[in-house]
Amino acid sequence: MITSVMTTHEIRQKYLAFFEKQGHRIIPSASIVPENDPTTLFTGSGMQPMVPYLLGEAHPMGNRITDSQKCFRSQDIEEVGDNRHTTFFEMLGNWSLGDYFKQEQIPWIFEFLTKEIGLNPEQLFVTVFRGNDDLGIPRDTESVELWKTTFKSVGIDAVDVDFAESSGMQNGRIFYYNESKNWWSRSGKPQQMPLGEPGGPDSELFWDFGADLQLHEQSLYKEEPCHVNCDCGRFMEIGNSVFMQYKKVESGFEQLPQLNVDFGGGLERIAAAQRNTPDMFKIDVFETMIQKLEVLTGKTYEQDSWSFRVILDHIRASVFLIGDGVIPSNKDQGYFTRRLIRRAVRFGKKLGIEQTFVSSVAKAVVETYGQHYPNLSGNQELILKELLTEEEKFLKTLTKGEKEFEKLFVEKQGISGEDAFVLYSTYGFPLELTEEMAKEQGQVIDRVIFQEEFKKHKDLSRSGSAEKFAGGLSDHSTKTVQLHTATHMLLQALRTVLGDHVFQKGSNITPERLRFDFSHQDKLTDDQIKQVENIVNANIENKLPVHFEILELDEARNRGAVGVFDDKYAQLGGKIKVYFIGDQATGDYYSREVCGGPHVDNTGELGHFEIQKEESVGSGVRRIKAVLSATS
Ligand code: SER
Repeated sequence: MITSVMTTHEIRQKYLAFFEKQGHRIIPSASIVPENDPTTLFTGSGMQPMVPYLLGEAHPMGNRITDSQKCFRSQDIEEVGDNRHTTFFEMLGNWSLGDYFKQEQIPWIFEFLTKEIGLNPEQLFVTVFRGNDDLGIPRDTESVELWKTTFKSVGIDAVDVDFAESSGMQNGRIFYYNESKNWWSRSGKPQQMPLGEPGGPDSELFWDFGADLQLHEQSLYKEEPCHVNCDCGRFMEIGNSVFMQYKKVESGFEQLPQLNVDFGGGLERIAAAQRNTPDMFKIDVFETMIQKLEVLTGKTYEQDSWSFRVILDHIRASVFLIGDGVIPSNKDQGYFTRRLIRRAVRFGKKLGIEQTFVSSVAKAVVETYGQHYPNLSGNQELILKELLTEEEKFLKTLTKGEKEFEKLFVEKQGISGEDAFVLYSTYGFPLELTEEMAKEQGQVIDRVIFQEEFKKHKDLSRSGSAEKFAGGLSDHSTKTVQLHTATHMLLQALRTVLGDHVFQKGSNITPERLRFDFSHQDKLTDDQIKQVENIVNANIENKLPVHFEILELDEARNRGAVGVFDDKYAQLGGKIKVYFIGDQATGDYYSREVCGGPHVDNTGELGHFEIQKEESVGSGVRRIKAVLSATS
């Protein structure tokens, strides 16, 4: 079968147009930074921004939606370098929000892949959910029948088999797997889902690059015959139709009020399948970047494809992150932009680049994507400037670190694991570079000692960060602590009056006043301000007790705590502190919030709450200044 090669942009366009033809409305990608979801730092799948609609809320654009969502997976940073992992990618999505189901989805996605973009159906394989009696979720024979009919329509007799380790392909085309492979929810397997979370069985699509490509001896599954979920490189997952029909409840699972479809397809992976290249970095979107990098390094991609890929992925991701406002910094999302840029610079050094280069590769990213992502072309100057500044900062760090290395080396006649750690913690000098420089002097760094120091430091900074968190306050004076509790009460009142889109965006408390930034578009009316004040004051007068509990992340979520559930907390051993305002005996809480404290014991201590100022501090963020005064 001869298919002409398509660009990634063409594939995106064709996908959206195809689903538009099937009655879907095309929506633009949401930001990589989730707006109303405190549970995660980044949008890592197309489904994230759709959660409220999958649970039954009406989508303003109707019940058939299609999009290409920008995604970033920070946990994949260290894996980048092989031929298929990227931290940033686009996920093509089509959504049925209580409208069509399997019967439409399976033939449609097959038609798109085989007819619209010309994938050879012989190279497509699928998986389905094998069912689990304990969970009361049936075997998905319905999807199997639909897949059989669909393959039959192009003359293929698709055989369905149960995947069993040791039995390999068994001449099958449709494979039943258990919930560790064929179930999708944001939190993974059904057993791991928190209460209220939507999920369902799914049907994944795999592209077969051919048996010749097997690098089986390097696979995790090298003891078993190859199968579609094996990581030998022969198969690549290109898409996943989730039949999102369940919600986790106390007793197990219940049907959602509607049957949903959540299809997610990796755009870059589909483009790689379309040109039948197992190296995802060989698709068109990386071409201009590779050319630039080849000129800058005087090397070819093939000479050191690992380093090239790290740079390509990390710079592309940084451009998209900065485009969505994630400026390099030491904390939260910005920390990842910083890490990406610094890692790219390190690999640039490995390729022998001496001058600054990040923004010139980034320019190629903007050239490639600008037409489809106007926020990149529109912000090009800012993006390139941020990248350059960060790169220069890092280069200075490196120069300082190198000097320090030399000093230590001469003083101590060598570099110990402890020294390597000092270079890392004080000067930000990466271990790999210390190792490289030591190697030039014929020395090996003791990694075990380095790791031990690292761990000691981490334990220390853990308590440090717990303190820092507790100390989002200027001090711990009685007045400040009272205003801190008032801040929790204010957030809850704002959510009651304005809606659940309100989250904390910043907080600063002195003994004189609280200052609280939160997500909300419009100016508050006088009436809204009055309502918020009244709610807070009523709950002060109710003299509600305040207590905290240390909870597992999932439990905190299940119990409805608001706040930031990010790595900071996971680092604290996976547990977080949640403050409850309200009666513990009845469990009727006015506010539940993730927080390090400290707080007053009873809201009755607070006095009278008054909002003094309400203003805007940037797009979609408002600021309130408020005080507590003694009740007369
Ligand atoms: N939610 C599914 C995934 O991310 C399909 O969109 O794989």
